[in-house]
Amino acid sequence: MPGLFVTFEGGEGSGKSTQVARLAARLRALGIDPLITREPGGTPVAEGVRALLLDPERRPVPLAEALLMEASRAQLVATVLKPALDAGRVCLCDRYADSTLAYQGAGRGIDAALLEQWNTAATQGLRPDVTLLFDVDPSLGLRRRQEAPGATNRLDREPTDFHERVRARYLELARSEPARWVVLDASLHPDELEAQVWEAVIARLPAEARPSARRA
Ligand code: TYD
Repeated sequence: MPGLFVTFEGGEGSGKSTQVARLAARLRALGIDPLITREPGGTPVAEGVRALLLDPERRPVPLAEALLMEASRAQLVATVLKPALDAGRVCLCDRYADSTLAYQGAGRGIDAALLEQWNTAATQGLRPDVTLLFDVDPSLGLRRRQEAPGATNRLDREPTDFHERVRARYLELARSEPARWVVLDASLHPDELEAQVWEAVIARLPAEARPSARRA
């Protein structure tokens, strides 16, 4: 069975991590064991980079921040994602290359063409089959994040206009490649979002893995 690469994108407090877990549970119920990972992070090297990146005490300059994101990505793609997809697994990744275009591109103001080149190098050209965008007004997302247990990270603490630029860039990216992106309204109830995520993913699963095929 060919693998399927699904990425989850969105602003702070968009609820995407909850949806990663819910989608994984639905896949398992079909007998599919998905690989679940995240960015930055997902390997011992990349988790070390993640700790550095999200530490509120650190102040990497924008280019250093972007290159650390790419370092984490290069390690994850080479050692986790490519082997899993080559083995035919369904891979769910909480954030991927589009996060860099939105956060370091629109948020920090780094040139988009430069980031595209870095993304291509770090990913070896590996692109998602489907990208789910959990679109939410930053004021709602940040409020949710502040109410959630656990400390906010360094990027959560950026001002609202930073998060508004991130959101706008995500929506532009989605418009420019509609076959890959699915835009979801992340202010909806988690159960409704779960159903919409399922609909988007099931349509892209290889035919033999879909529930109707299994019943036949
Ligand atoms: P995390 O706590 O995982 O946040 P979230 O639940 O919102 O995904 O922290 C990841 C942070 O890193 C998040 O603020 C977005 C940021 N980020 C970038 O700025 N660029 C990137 O390329 C990636 C992958 C993440």
